[in-house]
Amino acid sequence: MKISILLCVVLLGFLGVCQGGSLRKKFYRDSCPQAEDIIKTKTQQHVSANPDLPAKLLRMHFHDCFVRGCDASVLLNSTASNTAERDAIPNLSLAGFDVIDDIKSAVEAKCSKTVSCADILALAARDAVSVQFNKPMWEVLTGRRDGTVSNSNEALANIPAPFFNFTQLKESFAGKGLTLHDLVVLSGAHTIGIGHCNLFSNRLYNFTGKGDQDPSLNTTYAEFLKTKCQSLSDTTTTVEMDPGSSTKFDSDYYPNLLQNKGLFQSDAALLTQEQSEDIAKELVDQNKFFTEFAQSMKRMGAIEVLTGSAGEIRNKCSVVNS
Ligand code: HEM
Ligand SMILES: *[C@@H]1O[C@H](CO)[C@@H](O)[C@H](O)[C@H]1NC(C)=O
Ligand SMILES: *[C@@H]1O[C@H](CO)[C@@H](O)[C@H](O)[C@H]1NC(C)=O
Ligand SMILES: *[C@@H]1O[C@H](CO)[C@@H](O)[C@H](O)[C@H]1NC(C)=O
Ligand SMILES: *[C@@H]1O[C@H](CO)[C@@H](O)[C@H](O)[C@H]1NC(C)=O
Ligand SMILES: *[C@@H]1O[C@H](CO)[C@@H](O)[C@H](O)[C@H]1NC(C)=O
Repeated sequence: MKISILLCVVLLGFLGVCQGGSLRKKFYRDSCPQAEDIIKTKTQQHVSANPDLPAKLLRMHFHDCFVRGCDASVLLNSTASNTAERDAIPNLSLAGFDVIDDIKSAVEAKCSKTVSCADILALAARDAVSVQFNKPMWEVLTGRRDGTVSNSNEALANIPAPFFNFTQLKESFAGKGLTLHDLVVLSGAHTIGIGHCNLFSNRLYNFTGKGDQDPSLNTTYAEFLKTKCQSLSDTTTTVEMDPGSSTKFDSDYYPNLLQNKGLFQSDAALLTQEQSEDIAKELVDQNKFFTEFAQSMKRMGAIEVLTGSAGEIRNKCSVVNS
């Protein structure tokens, strides 16, 4: 095991072919021993100023990993000749870019050109969600490198839509090497954060084009949602995905879902198959959810990563090195 990792890093890593599976614990132990502490401290400061931040960073990490792997491509700005992922339609309400830039500056001040933006995002997402627990909620292996390409069309093609049905969701996750189990577990991230009305108001007002409501949506909940989202054309109002505890990371997503209160069709879709419904029932148990979430996040955080000498260590997270 050790030898093969060494071989991979020394020989194949040199050729840039060691992608995935070669992340490790404390990659920066020698090159930047303070890196993980700086990231944690900075993230905690930002979270205490903004309780919505954990949701932003967690979703940003997910969007990063699903497009070209976890390579910080989501952080790149558009240029005169290229529309980047962050300016694609599914970016709606992506936020926290400034926070990542700030953390990166603090890390650069201690050890320049050493710590990747992809690792910073993975660690900051974990640390932000972990603030309320005072301990890390999942392990983040490190050693990711940053990509140089970011394309809005690839975001459109790779980020699952809130209108996806079960088959589409399962295929989207399978395309990233994630299982049905990962799909149900990671959907539990919707225990924090918000959703925009226009991404689900068809379920309230015009589900099949006949001015009807989605029969799979809890009618009590639908009435409540209608008080918030008053028309199909409302694109600005947001609602909490987990009403009443949308900044608290817990297993509430599952009891809500099982009462037919999943906000998006993609949430409700998890109840359309017995296997995924059974998984959702198991995850009502908070300890079970936390354990499983930690494992699935580790898998998500390893999607198509660049390691060894592939990619680069960006100097600034929003632009590729010149
Ligand atoms: C299974 C497929 C998924 C779909 C279709 C989906 C879709 C969405 C949509 C449409 C929103 C609302 C965005 C907005 O209106 O601003 C959202 C929010 C969010 N998603 Fe997902 N998502 C999925 C999986 C995930 C995963 C795997 C994670 C992380 C592990 C995640 C984390 C979040 C978070 C934290 C928010 C709240 C963001 C905020 O408060 O600004 N989602 N998701
Ligand atoms: C990237 O875009 C953001 C938002 O427009 C801006 O604040 C930031 O300065 C840009 N980054 C660089 C390096 O120009
Ligand atoms: C999202 O994309 C739109 C264009 O589709 C752009 O105007 C907006 O600034 C982007 N949002 C962020 C946070 O980058
Ligand atoms: C899911 O959506 C796809 C694409 O629209 C469609 O072809 C498929 O029949 C749908 N599957 C189910 C089970 O509804
Ligand atoms: C509902 O959907 C149908 C079919 O797509 C469309 O013709 C109709 O205009 C929609 N109703 C509203 C209120 O948008
Ligand atoms: C709808 O939600 C209410 C609580 O708001 C719950 O008592 C009821 O069982 C739910 N109905 C269905 C069909 O899940």
